[in-house]
Amino acid sequence: MSRLLVCPPDYFQIDYEINPWMKRDNAVVPSRAVAQWQRLMQVLEEDVAAGVERMQPVPGLPDLVFTANAGVVAGRRAVISRFRYPERRREELHFAQWFREQGYEVLTLDESLYFEGAGDLLGFPETWFGGYRQRSDIRSFPRLSELFQREIIPLELIDSRFYHLDTCFCPLSGGELLYFPSSFDAYGLAAIAQRLPEERRLAVPEEEAIRFACNAVCSGKHIVIPAGCPRTMRLLESRGYLTHEVELSEFMKSGGAAKCLTLALD
Ligand code: ARG
Repeated sequence: MSRLLVCPPDYFQIDYEINPWMKRDNAVVPSRAVAQWQRLMQVLEEDVAAGVERMQPVPGLPDLVFTANAGVVAGRRAVISRFRYPERRREELHFAQWFREQGYEVLTLDESLYFEGAGDLLGFPETWFGGYRQRSDIRSFPRLSELFQREIIPLELIDSRFYHLDTCFCPLSGGELLYFPSSFDAYGLAAIAQRLPEERRLAVPEEEAIRFACNAVCSGKHIVIPAGCPRTMRLLESRGYLTHEVELSEFMKSGGAAKCLTLALD
């Protein structure tokens, strides 16, 4: 069973603009955001049978809902994020406090290195991939690789719409990769191809990539995917996955969807 960290959207809104999706005048409708988030939790807990840990929302920190950016966890160790934008930096202490209270060993990287957690670091059991340039620094990966004893393959993110790796890259439990190839350069695509043979690479079409098709939660055979991605759902079903779609339009106003509203704790 997967265990996921989440944070209710009590204070979620668009207060600032730090990615191309965020527009202050495209205001969040709070009642809709709450309903969409609760539906996501219901699917995760009831259909996927995931264990969900809720942290306390904090007034003035609208993006705390995106717990994928809390840090990265392996075993009882958590490395807390260091956000690129000052707007999100105050979240760091709340995430660190949560991990400390749960008894994790809490580590941080050098102050000067930006690192945005599982938003930019994800992969398969042995090999991890690290997205950099838009948010995390490439220089954070050697240290993380040493700490977690995993190979980390850096992937440059070249399209500002896909500013975190988890917006365009989603490793699946069966060893396949769901991804949007145009968000990587030729060098990154070659690195991906070297690790994953063609039959394990599932490319999503651009019209669904921009509806966050890759920002999906995979747990065993289940995949929770934002609504509006029928071609991706069919592709996943053809590989034997059970798909669950959830409307997350309010969170897309902030540049996020299913995956970044969760952080895998195991
Ligand atoms: N508004 C948030 C930001 O720009 C969205 C973060 C989404 N998180 C993610 N892991 N993709 O930082």
